[in-house]
Amino acid sequence: MSGRTILRGSALSKGFGSGTRRIEVVRNLDLEVEAGSFTLIKGPSGCGKSTLLAMLAGLTQPDGGEVWIGDTDVWALPRGQRDRLRLNRMGFIFQGAVLFPALAAREQVALILTEMGRPRGEALATADEALAAVGLADRAHLLPAALSGGEKQRVAIAMGLAKRPSLIFADEPTSALDTENAGAVARLLTSYAAAVGAAVLCVTHDDRLQPFADRVLFMRAGRIEAEQIIKEPKRCHS
Ligand SMILES: Nc1ncnc2c1ncn2[C@@H]1O[C@H](COP(=O)(O)OP(=O)(O)OP(=O)(O)O)[C@@H](O)[C@H]1O
Ligand SMILES: [Mg+2]
Repeated sequence: MSGRTILRGSALSKGFGSGTRRIEVVRNLDLEVEAGSFTLIKGPSGCGKSTLLAMLAGLTQPDGGEVWIGDTDVWALPRGQRDRLRLNRMGFIFQGAVLFPALAAREQVALILTEMGRPRGEALATADEALAAVGLADRAHLLPAALSGGEKQRVAIAMGLAKRPSLIFADEPTSALDTENAGAVARLLTSYAAAVGAAVLCVTHDDRLQPFADRVLFMRAGRIEAEQIIKEPKRCHS
């Protein structure tokens, strides 16, 4: 029995450059992601992991293939609707996320929510909840310069999760963190995903994340060459 597919990439391909300088970065790649699942993508530097994530997230247009989120064909949408879909449904957590130097942590998180059209008061209250959830309730008023690397990364996670996205894209979210913080990040992502039924797609070289994953996809030269199921995602059996 299979769970609900929330994201599907089919026959995705992408290359850069032209003529003899052309490189094919993602090659005819298929991928399905179930709601509530935590998928790791591993593979050597340059094998196309970030490019794949960018195509799935509606950021980089594939040369071929399709991306479906639910019953929406992402790359068939006009640009404005694709941007809306991203804003409303997707959260992003990247390594060394850039925070605005002049904004306190709670302002950074609230900014995304006001961008989505939430009133400022509500946005700040939600931002405070999200920061409390990542253990930063007492740091919410501080500027990035006053936060440690691990704390900054947790602000970035609060930014990614505050809008309660159904899809979370993470690219090396823990590689700059010590083991304690990396574990905290992994627990936050998995507990959020399980609670909301969101899917997490996480590119990483960090073996510390493996125990938290439902499966690992191994990518090489633009293709998924192996899949390791670690545990079955939580599913509703009828
Ligand atoms: N916009 C671009 N223009 C030209 N080449 C690009 C572009 N984006 C990516 N590439 C190339 O595509 C290849 C794959 O890049 P990608 O960022 O997807 O790799 P990656 O698997 O995420 O690697 P890493 O683990 O180092 O982050 C690299 O050779 C890169 O130089
Ligand atoms: Mg990358």
